[in-house]
Amino acid sequence: MLLALVRAKVEDDTDAFKKITLQIAAQEASAGHARVADELRILIDKVQFAKGQRVGRVPTVVPISQPGGELSTILQATYPKDRLRDMVLDERTHRTLSRILREQRSHHVFASYGLRPRRKFMLVGPPGCGKTSTAKMLAGELSLPLFVVRLEGLLSRYLGETSARLSVIFDAMKNTVGVYLFDEFDSIGTFRGDTRDIGEVRRVLSTFLQLIENDESDSIIVAATNHQHMLDEALFRRFDDVVEFPLPTHHLLEEFLKKRLEYVVTSDTRISWNKLASESKGLSYADMERASGDALKTMLMNESKIITEELLQEAIEERVLIHQKILSNTTTPRDNK
Ligand SMILES: Nc1ncnc2c1ncn2[C@@H]1O[C@H](COP(=O)(O)OP(=O)(O)O)[C@@H](O)[C@H]1O
Ligand SMILES: [Mg+2]
Repeated sequence: MLLALVRAKVEDDTDAFKKITLQIAAQEASAGHARVADELRILIDKVQFAKGQRVGRVPTVVPISQPGGELSTILQATYPKDRLRDMVLDERTHRTLSRILREQRSHHVFASYGLRPRRKFMLVGPPGCGKTSTAKMLAGELSLPLFVVRLEGLLSRYLGETSARLSVIFDAMKNTVGVYLFDEFDSIGTFRGDTRDIGEVRRVLSTFLQLIENDESDSIIVAATNHQHMLDEALFRRFDDVVEFPLPTHHLLEEFLKKRLEYVVTSDTRISWNKLASESKGLSYADMERASGDALKTMLMNESKIITEELLQEAIEERVLIHQKILSNTTTPRDNK
């Protein structure tokens, strides 16, 4: 029990921590140690429990091992606390992600059979639907550091030596097991340098593919892209799994809103979540996150403690408008041709 308690603390799992403490209290009580039991219960009542959201969670200090030398300029380590249960996902994506986690957790068992867990993933989907969150979640669930590699930054800063830099990153994967996120991975394909650079970009892409294919480390490779159509078959083949993150469906929009607000504030019981979800059609989770944040802020500024349908509706409408504006701005002639 002590072990489980320490584990819960290390993993920042407040629910488990509470449950185990209460179990200990019960044991103490039945062993006749009523005072210890009472004190445990009083103490545990003082802990603020954050359920599925970050508000009010006590941050724990984690020593972060930053890569040294030239690596430190391209790789930054963080230790995310994200959990799968905090994400809202369609059934298929949820199943795939659970499977990935289970395989990772079984890697010792696999090893004796010469098997290895899946660990090279391509995440595809529109912005704000959970690709970066998933990389964080994998790191959080598996207690691994997350290294984010922004290829776009790598390309523009070190054009000419990008391939060499990439090799350095893949070397790091062998030495420091972690989740390596190649975010905006498609920027390789769409990089707009001058024409002289196109050869270089092509070289970088083929180096990248080769490195992924040859990689034998225990690290998890996550490549995220918004544009499925830009990536060819050859690319997909290099990955163990391609995970899709589509825009939320009506049902998932509703689930997200409830999940986001339920534990934070009291909601007006007359709220029609169904109607709000209809009005949010086409928005991403990131949009919904902002809308609910805006509604909460308005609520606070109004010195109220209850979230209402009107507040939410207003915030959602604003997001929808912003979306329409962005859409009409991005359909430039170049994209239309
Ligand atoms: N599936 C999801 N479930 C819950 N929240 C999500 C989900 N997808 C996105 N979000 C919210 O939107 C924000 C941005 O999402 P992100 O994962 O960065 O999107 P992207 O797919 O563009 O990488 C996250 O920080 C999170 O608050
Ligand atoms: Mg992202």
